[in-house]
Amino acid sequence: MTDAWIVGGALRDELLGREVRDVDVAVAGDPEQAARELAAKVRGPAFKLSETFGAWRVIDRRGDTVWDFSPLQGASIEEDLAQRDFTINALARPLAGGDLIDPTGGRSDVESRTLRVLGPQAYERDPLRALRLPRFAAELGFAPDAETERLTRAAAPSTASAAGERIFLELRRLVIADGALEGLQLADRLGVLEAVLPELTALHEVDQSDYHHLDVYDHTLEVLNQQIQVERRLEELFDDSARIERMLEAPLSDELTRAQALRFGALLHDIGKPATRDVLPNGRVTFMGHDKLGERMVGDLCRRLRTSERFARFVGSLTRHHLVLGFLVHERPLDRGQVYRYLRRTAPTEVEVTLLSCADRLATRGRKGEEATKAHLELARELMEAALDWREQGPPGAPVRGDELAAELGIEPGPELGRLLAELEQAAYAGEATTRAQAVALARRLLA
Ligand code: CTP
Repeated sequence: MTDAWIVGGALRDELLGREVRDVDVAVAGDPEQAARELAAKVRGPAFKLSETFGAWRVIDRRGDTVWDFSPLQGASIEEDLAQRDFTINALARPLAGGDLIDPTGGRSDVESRTLRVLGPQAYERDPLRALRLPRFAAELGFAPDAETERLTRAAAPSTASAAGERIFLELRRLVIADGALEGLQLADRLGVLEAVLPELTALHEVDQSDYHHLDVYDHTLEVLNQQIQVERRLEELFDDSARIERMLEAPLSDELTRAQALRFGALLHDIGKPATRDVLPNGRVTFMGHDKLGERMVGDLCRRLRTSERFARFVGSLTRHHLVLGFLVHERPLDRGQVYRYLRRTAPTEVEVTLLSCADRLATRGRKGEEATKAHLELARELMEAALDWREQGPPGAPVRGDELAAELGIEPGPELGRLLAELEQAAYAGEATTRAQAVALARRLLA
């Protein structure tokens, strides 16, 4: 018989009445043996998780629970708990049953919803913990005590030294949590945000034109807020909210749905602004090219955080195209060719960037704000229908194949043929040339 204890988050969540799906077990002795004993009991598989740390996992399919067994850190369970991050996570209970082991007052901190770090050495041991603090605040709605705030502020700069993928994992959980705004505010106040997303905190005190009532940082958080609201208002704002919801729920990458990744778009879409800010002679503030620069910055940031390529491209595309719909508002009513060009340009984020542009617009007040918002939302409603069809059916093809067209016109394949095919595709989408004969005739005219 080995000594084993349930430790950490599972006990915290149990005290909170939250659903427990992941259980960590610390084992004094051989984790394999303890894992196999449980596996036999629950008739689930047991397998080795890591060579280095000797961790084992058991899947209990009956309760849909994952059990992870790791070697005890230190000579006793108390020593193990003392090396953990926060009091609410420094809890243990014998796996075989028994009383809660709570050397640091974790249970009472759970009850008072307090985040209390286990001293400065907790942050020295693992600099990522300073980011875990606002992540727990965002997920649980807890708040740090004054001493923890002080220690977190002091440890914040070293958070940047944690591995990019670990930072991204915590950021992800923070940004998709119900309390994302509060968590980000806390991370900013304590200097943690500055360490892990300096591109975002650089938006502080960047003043905008009179259309904006907030600096770029506050505007950005308001966009995130509006983005979360827009997701809740889909039915009111759009015609086919169920279809949008289905698309947003689809997984994108990095264990994120498209809706969750969209929150990063809201957060990062304006990071190109500080470097592109300019004041015209008439006093107007401009940020020419911040969309383009922002896309590049998103790419760099994603490489630093070791995100997937797919995530980087998704957020990059949102950043690059977040202004397009706003410009089109002045060109209403749009013809089918303009709708085509909007979708061609913004795909594969045509649905999401349409939503983001609404959140961005709703976060902006100032002169003629209400009217402008109304016009924007009307156009978004219209374009959303087209975007949903485009997403489901894919882009329309030209009614004639490239090699056939080249033969008909007597031209060589090359950039010119590519341009013609793009024109034909647009004409097909617009209903102007839907048959092969019409397409060839149009191509001849364009060539002439
Ligand atoms: N832990 C820690 N320091 C870290 C990571 C983890 O002290 N940097 C400890 C904590 O005791 C934590 C446990 O390991 O409770 C498990 O970590 P993790 O699974 O990341 O978090 P949980 O607390 O289980 O939270 P959640 O279930 O929400 O992931």
